[in-house]
Amino acid sequence: MARTDDLLADLRRFYDDRVRSHGPTPAGLDYNSEAAQTRRFEQLAKLLPRREPFSLLDYGCGYGSLYRYLRELGLSLRYRGFDISAEMLAQAEAFLAGETDCEIFSEESALPVSDFTVACGIFNNKLEVPEAKWQDHVLTTLHRICDLSREGFAFNMLTSYSDPEKMRPDLYYGDPCFYFDYCKKNFANDVALLHDYGLYDFTILVRLAP
Ligand SMILES: C[S@@+](CC[C@H](N)C(=O)[O-])C[C@H]1O[C@@H](n2cnc3c(N)ncnc32)[C@H](O)[C@@H]1O
Repeated sequence: MARTDDLLADLRRFYDDRVRSHGPTPAGLDYNSEAAQTRRFEQLAKLLPRREPFSLLDYGCGYGSLYRYLRELGLSLRYRGFDISAEMLAQAEAFLAGETDCEIFSEESALPVSDFTVACGIFNNKLEVPEAKWQDHVLTTLHRICDLSREGFAFNMLTSYSDPEKMRPDLYYGDPCFYFDYCKKNFANDVALLHDYGLYDFTILVRLAP
């Protein structure tokens, strides 16, 4: 069975290769299109306040495109991007160069607690990891994300309600009911499940009690 270190090393290699081949584009993140990426960002952004400034951790930030999206919405944020892929982080440094309210982190242990955390697309590619082992990895990561968040966090993943003939063995399709229930029982009373935006994935917003 894959150990967590091996699991992260394989993922790191996968995303290093993707972004090396395709550059800072949706294909470099293994996404189908920019339109789908934007639709995912729209869901995650529902967690975030529209007026007052806040700090945001983008956990698995890729090359940092969420930052640009949120700035175009007019949000006032201190952005912290973290990723396991050194190639992604190099692209993020270039993509966000000159932005004074952005910090990039390569070490999870160096991350400060932020007001909010979002994790977009980090649970989709399980590669060859068995499903039960991947679910453990997802839950462990969600607990870390919760610990790093003061007011709330949001994440998305592919849905187990996808068309069976289109499902792939290297991808993870989470059960939205399981994750909704898990978040209610372990993280917060205020949990939203969004599964109505026309993609084969769902988004969960968790608002932590003050
Ligand atoms: C599909 S890409 C999405 C990038 C970005 N969130 C976006 O939506 O534009 C997934 C990213 O998450 C990173 N990643 C995957 N698992 C991670 C983990 N456990 N910790 C930190 N980064 C992770 C990958 O290296 C990759 O850059």
